[in-house]
Amino acid sequence: MKRRLIYCMLLLSVFNCKEDKPQNNTESTIPEYVEESHSYAKPNTSVIKHLDLDINVDFDTKVIGGTATYTIENNNASEIILDTKYLVIEKAEADGEPTDFELGNFDEQLGQPLHVAISENTKQIRIHYKTTDKTEALQWLSPQQTADKTHPFLFTQGQAILTRSWIPIQDSPQIRITYNAKVKVPSDLMAVMSAENPKKKTTDGIYTFKMQQPISPYLMALAVGDIYYKSVSERTGVYAERSMVDKAHYEFSDMENMVVAAENLYGDYDWDQFDVIVLPPSFPFGGMENPRLTFATPTVIAGDKSLTSLIAHELAHSWSGNLVTNATWNDFWLNEGFTVYFEIRIMEALYGKDRANMIALIGRQDLEEEIESFENEPEMTKLKLDLTNKNPDDGMNSIAYDKGYLFLRTLEETVGREKFDRFLKNYFKTNAFSTVTTEDFVDYLNTNLLEPNAIDFNIDEWIYKAGVPDNQAIIVSDKFKNAENTLNDFITSKSVDVSKTKDWTTQEWVHFIRNFPETITNEDLARFDEAFDFTNSSNSHIAMVWYEQAINHDYHGNNVDQNIEDFLTRVGRRWYVSTLFKAFKRNDKIDEALAIYRKSRANYHSVTMRTIDDMLEFTN
Ligand code: BES
Ligand code: ZN
Repeated sequence: MKRRLIYCMLLLSVFNCKEDKPQNNTESTIPEYVEESHSYAKPNTSVIKHLDLDINVDFDTKVIGGTATYTIENNNASEIILDTKYLVIEKAEADGEPTDFELGNFDEQLGQPLHVAISENTKQIRIHYKTTDKTEALQWLSPQQTADKTHPFLFTQGQAILTRSWIPIQDSPQIRITYNAKVKVPSDLMAVMSAENPKKKTTDGIYTFKMQQPISPYLMALAVGDIYYKSVSERTGVYAERSMVDKAHYEFSDMENMVVAAENLYGDYDWDQFDVIVLPPSFPFGGMENPRLTFATPTVIAGDKSLTSLIAHELAHSWSGNLVTNATWNDFWLNEGFTVYFEIRIMEALYGKDRANMIALIGRQDLEEEIESFENEPEMTKLKLDLTNKNPDDGMNSIAYDKGYLFLRTLEETVGREKFDRFLKNYFKTNAFSTVTTEDFVDYLNTNLLEPNAIDFNIDEWIYKAGVPDNQAIIVSDKFKNAENTLNDFITSKSVDVSKTKDWTTQEWVHFIRNFPETITNEDLARFDEAFDFTNSSNSHIAMVWYEQAINHDYHGNNVDQNIEDFLTRVGRRWYVSTLFKAFKRNDKIDEALAIYRKSRANYHSVTMRTIDDMLEFTN
């Protein structure tokens, strides 16, 4: 941020600064990028600024191939380095002429650097390439793996460092590019990207895209399938397969209200359109904040809009993440902690404090479990991480999300909401379309909030130390207390009074189930299942926590084992899948886990597969 400021002052105008325009060839206008361990690119010497992608998506061979043409800025360098992983590089050009290129050594985590020869005057490079069957970002689905079961489907997942496996690119969050794309797909399918999108199929299967706001490479995204669009408001709407589109439209009917609430909190929505695509169930995340088009799991569709905080979360990333971006994956908490805070504020604005606090408390409980799981690796419970030689995915856990949230909530309660909101709004505005390190943020916080208000706050302890400091905000929920009491009553009286749970929300049910005591008996569980049919719940979150308890407590009633297996075979959402496999492992049921995993593994995207392979020490 400081670097940025100096750079802006040089250009004398904050506005021009966003363009990063070169003035001449001798004086560099390339801003300084911080060192990071997850990209081979050397953007301080030569950097990509704009991408023209021209690709063909071939479902028969499961290959994406074509050209990536970059407009570059060059600081007198003789080469530009891109990241690649499992790509075949066929040819490179510099300003339209063939040029030398070389792929460096392969690293399991990072892939291979692609060195492309340029001269100091080179303005543009073009890479001819194709993907392979190892490409990690892509999941090619058979019709059987989709909702409608009639057409194949393809989606990409870029975060954290997978974009390099479907496009040769400088794959660091510090890079920002605009892009245009021309994508050819089979003519019965539609293509959508993290860009301006079509609302209808074309007759020839050719789609063109424009992304005019500069984005980080991890936000490049593509989905191809037999999908349809239905708008919710002028600037919001849903894409889904035919059988899902009305359900998605109903579930997400509050999208526009969410955008309005978010804008009221932290300033204008800068991306024009906010759409969501509901993907097939193997999508490895709950949601992914691809700009203008959030990718979402179908497991969020509960039929009663009860899991839509996920949409608020991905929307919030339009500010924290997409607009103001973590500079490196060690600063990932800046993306996710801020986003959870913002998500919960949106939920509060729309549905009130009760709902907001229940969501916050579920996260608080997740945080407690995460800290326990890192008992032997306390350094992993710091907000600022050191992921050198680690996969950045290893930092994707409750620490970044829920400790990040708790830190910001504690700050809010310390300085007061009004001041805190003004501070955050300015933070997003000042740093729009740029990247921030943890240290940048700490500086900004000191200068703009703590010092002017003479507030003493243990920032260093929160950010650079393990665990949770003592001054943490205490979150309370009467509804959760009531759920705990009800659970106690049901267990001690050995009977269930369903009238006591009549108006319960999903969050109360999740809390009720997660709080079963160690000593709960099979009779208790059977009684609950008979009264509430948790085993057949159509709410994915309730089903998931119930299955976890069934595994923990050796409950086999109501054919729950079959449901667990079906769930794990159909759903690829990593959080759900890993929670359940972890439960098998914790309870010494590794054989059962492996028996299921052998059947379900082929349905998972590479990121889920990698996590479960490691967890179960699975070797093919
Ligand atoms: N950006 C994340 C997903 C992600 C993080 C993908 C790191 C790859 C690496 C997304 O915004 C997210 O946090 N999704 C959550 C949902 C949420 C409501 C906490 C998820 O998928 O569970
Ligand atoms: Zn997120």
